[in-house]
Formats: sequence, structure tokens, C-alpha cells
Amino acid sequence: MKHKKDNFSSRLGFVLAAAGSAVGLGNLWRFPYLAAKYGGGTFLLIYLLLTVTFGFALLTTEIAIGRKTGKSALYAFSHLNKKWKFLGVLASAVPIIIMPYYCVIGGWVIKYAWVYLSGQGTAAAGDQFFGDYIGQVGEPIIWLAVFVLATMAIILLGVNKGIENMSKVLMPLLIALSIVIAIFVVTRPGATDGLVYYFKPDLSKMSASAFLAALGQLFYSLSLAMGIMITYGSYMKKEDDIELSVRNIEIFDTGIAFLAGLMVVPAVFVFNNGSTEALKAGPTLMFITLPKVFDSMAGGHIVGGAFFILVFFAAVTSSVSLMETVVSIFVEKSGKSRKLVTVAVAVYTILMAIPSSLGFGIWSHISVKGLSILDMWDFLSNSVLMPVVALLTCIFVGYIIKTKTITDEINSSTEKFKSEKLYVILIKYFSPILIIAILISSILNGLGIITL
Ligand code: PHE
Repeated sequence: MKHKKDNFSSRLGFVLAAAGSAVGLGNLWRFPYLAAKYGGGTFLLIYLLLTVTFGFALLTTEIAIGRKTGKSALYAFSHLNKKWKFLGVLASAVPIIIMPYYCVIGGWVIKYAWVYLSGQGTAAAGDQFFGDYIGQVGEPIIWLAVFVLATMAIILLGVNKGIENMSKVLMPLLIALSIVIAIFVVTRPGATDGLVYYFKPDLSKMSASAFLAALGQLFYSLSLAMGIMITYGSYMKKEDDIELSVRNIEIFDTGIAFLAGLMVVPAVFVFNNGSTEALKAGPTLMFITLPKVFDSMAGGHIVGGAFFILVFFAAVTSSVSLMETVVSIFVEKSGKSRKLVTVAVAVYTILMAIPSSLGFGIWSHISVKGLSILDMWDFLSNSVLMPVVALLTCIFVGYIIKTKTITDEINSSTEKFKSEKLYVILIKYFSPILIIAILISSILNGLGIITL
């Protein structure tokens, strides 16, 4: 995207572009495995509460900062206050960390689309298939490179708009297909236990780590705390309604995550002969559970192929937004051509992604507290850096530039800011206190000082 204002011709255009970045592997791959791991209904409840409070406040803030300053994250904060340039730098570090490992999962998705298209769907349903696949050295690296190159090509060829237009068609298809798959899963015998697990909050499972995981997921899923929404906001028209757009994006993003959980979590109960061990599978869950679903469905292999192709599209629109952000940071900094920077970023991405990929195979001995290399990057960005960026953003808005700067920007649209009072409370008190509490308790928890 070029740095000019009013890039989005309509509010809907803005919402769809932001949703294209937001809806991706975070919703389809990451949300279900976290929900499975952190107590199902407990996680769902925490996540929903955080979305309508925290997610609302932060998404509103980022879009408004972008629109007000007309700048990307690296310069938006310093434009508002010289001393806060470091926050832009910190936020910019996040996509640089996420990008490589995102492409590892993107590579898994392409592999699975290919597996179904080439008629190996039954083999994919086998218990060992996925573990054997990601444990290899060569093939996963080839597919992740294909994913990176596809992302790079879209940016270099300048066809981002075309991809966005395509996803306007493909996204509803993904939703429709997910609904069909979810209905199939929840009507299988044994699904009731899974539904209870997914919906019923078990208060005894509330923990600091579940909160931290839900918070990290919220940032990740809404593409927050890394400057992406600031950049998107800078392209938004002055008269468009920010508040309504935020609501639309949240409903879209949360709805798809919810559906993905509904496909995957009950399926664990249905297809593992009553064993719920797979709930702990972590990042590999979607790829282990869904092939079993497809294998037991009439025409399931076609459904599986279509599903993974649609997931690929959702993932690519997100990875394009990630790579765009990283590229624009380095173009602004270095003054080099976009082409050169894009190629350099792609090479960096592939090189950095390789260790994360090998971490499931020959480098699986490298782990910290049971986290694989990919998990470690994920933890560093989502559970450490993003909460810190979010906390500093709240302090910056609440106490440095003052909430009025933001609420004035929102009120300058044709519509008034209806939740203004709530917003001020959320940014000044609720959100920072909550993040501090979550961070402190999970650090103490991690150090084994308290058990929560
Ligand atoms: N929000 C995207 C998703 O849910 C992931 C993403 C993170 C995209 C950060 C851009 C930036 O998959």
C-alpha cells in the first residue's frame, strides 16, 4: 500500500481489509488449540470478555492513532510525542518475529491442501502422519519457502488488491464450509462431551496462564500491538465511523475463531475413542484432528481439499499484511527500493523459519520448559512483547497524550463515539491494571513462586 490518505474507498473496504489481516491462522489454527489446552469453556469465556473490553479499546486506539497521524507505527508514536519513539520500534519488532514462524504453519497448510488434492486423504488421517511429516528436514522447508515466495510475489506484483477482492468471495465460502464441518462434527456420537467441554466454563480451570494465553491470542488474532492496525487506520477516511468498524472487525474475527473451535475441539472427543489426551496437542492439533473428521465424512476428501485451500487464502492475506508491515518499516528506514527490501525480507523470513521447522524434527531436543522452537517465538511475541506493547500503548494514551486526543479523532467522524466513557475507563484503568496483574502472576507462576 502506498502512503496516501483515503486509500479505502468505503468503510466496508476498510473493514474487509482489516478483517483480511485479522482472520487467518490465528483464528483457525491457534484459537482451537489454545481453547483445547486451557479448559475449553473457561478459555472461551475469558477470551470473549477480553475481546469486548480490551480488544475493543486497543483496536479503537490503534486505528484512531493511525488515522490521526497518517503514519505507520514506527513514526506514529513519535509524531504524537518525540520521547515515545521507542514504542514504535518495539511494536515493529513483533511482526519481524511472527512472520517466519507464521510461514512454517502456512507451509503445513499448503502441504495438506496438496495431500488432499493428490488423493492421500486417508493416509493423512493416520495417527503418525502429521508427526512424521513435520519431523522431516526437507519437505516442510520446501513448503514453507513456497508460502513465503507466494507472499512475496503478491507484494512484488502489487496484486494485494486483487487478493483482497478474491478473499471477499473466498472468506464467505470458508465460513460456509466451516459451518458444514462443525455441524457434521457436533452431530457425531460422543460429541456432547466435547460440546460441554467447549461451552461450559469450569471455574477451577481459571488460571493466570489461561488469562495470559487468551490475552496473547486476542492481540495475535486481531493483529494488534504490532502496528498493523495503525497502518491500516492511516489509510482510513476521516468521515468513516471508527467505532462501528471496530465492532464489525471484532464480530468477524471472533465468529470465525469460535467456529474453528467448534470444528476442532468436539472432534477430539469424537475421533479419539474417548481419549482426551489430544487436547494437549498444542500447535499440531488442527492438522491431527481435522483429517480424521474428513476421512469419516462422505465426500470428505473433497471437503478437506477445499478447506485447506480456503485456509491457505485466509493465511496468505494475513502473511501479506505481516510482510507489508515489515517491508514498509525497512523501506522507511533504509530508503532502499521496495523491491530490494521485499526480497531481503523474504530471504530473512525463510532463513529464520528453518529453525522453527526443524524444531519438530532433528532439533526437537532444543526446548525450554517443554516449548519447541516455534512455540518459543510464539511465546516471546504473544505472551511477552505484545502485552508489553499493549500496556505501554494504554499508558501513552491514558496519561501522556491523554484520551481526549483519541476520542476527538473518533468524534471527528460523522458519527459520535457512543462508548466514549467506557473507552476512557478501559484505557486508563481497566486494561493497564489487568495486563500488569496477568504479567506479574504469570511470571510468579513461571518461577514457581505461586501456583495459579
Ligand atoms: N491476525 C492474523 C491471524 O489471526 C495473524 C497476524 C498476526 C496477521 C499479526 C498479521 C499480523 O492469523
